[in-house]
Amino acid sequence: MANRPYIVGNWKMNGTRAMLSEARAIDRGAARHPAVRVAIAPPFTLVHAMAEDATAIAVGGQDCHASPSGAFTGDVSAPLLKDAGAQFVIVGHSERRALHGETDAAVRAKAEAALEAGLEVIVCVGETEAQRDAGQAEAVVAAQLEGSLPRGETAAQGVTVAYEPVWAIGTGRVPSVDDVGAMHRSIRAVLGAIYGEAGAEVAILYGGSVNAANASELLCADEVGGALVGGASLTAESFLTIVAAAGPLGD
Ligand code: 13P
Repeated sequence: MANRPYIVGNWKMNGTRAMLSEARAIDRGAARHPAVRVAIAPPFTLVHAMAEDATAIAVGGQDCHASPSGAFTGDVSAPLLKDAGAQFVIVGHSERRALHGETDAAVRAKAEAALEAGLEVIVCVGETEAQRDAGQAEAVVAAQLEGSLPRGETAAQGVTVAYEPVWAIGTGRVPSVDDVGAMHRSIRAVLGAIYGEAGAEVAILYGGSVNAANASELLCADEVGGALVGGASLTAESFLTIVAAAGPLGD
């Protein structure tokens, strides 16, 4: 692994202020693993409080609007996230693509807005089960990357890709280590085509039912630079076990 392994917790629509103590435990635990980059994306409502208290973890948003400000009721822009203390934002999560109809072009616009605001951005891609069964997984993911990744001279420096097969999210099912490695090699090739040499430095995270029991194995797959974790990031106990599993890879 060329760079420090990157372990990101996506809390999705979970987390009242009572959960800030869990975030604090994660932060203090992460400080004991300096070889690992650790981050949490809580709901918007917790970003500021969590960022204020964080000493070792980065805090980010789970989505942003493509415009910096304006009449967009209910939306949150990248500059607003930055102002609240966020260092990064996740865009193009499959739940947003499926439930909010986000297209590749919309995801790319959000990613570019995030970089423009000085945030790092995690761009999510991943195939459905039907697409995998049809043998289209790599082609689908390549097309998502082509359409969703921000372009520009310095874009590669601010971008992380998260490969999350839709059928593995929240299901307890994970692809084989070989399949993860094959997909990550394919993603690396697309990154090279888009960004040239800089594409080699972009971290590619695996996401989808990562837990304390399977993290070590998945993190060792080819070209896996870390993990995007949903359910298992909600407690310090399980999330820190995953962080610890990444530790040896960063030494
Ligand atoms: P789970 O880890 O709960 O499967 O969620 C994965 C995910 O969607 C992270 O963004």
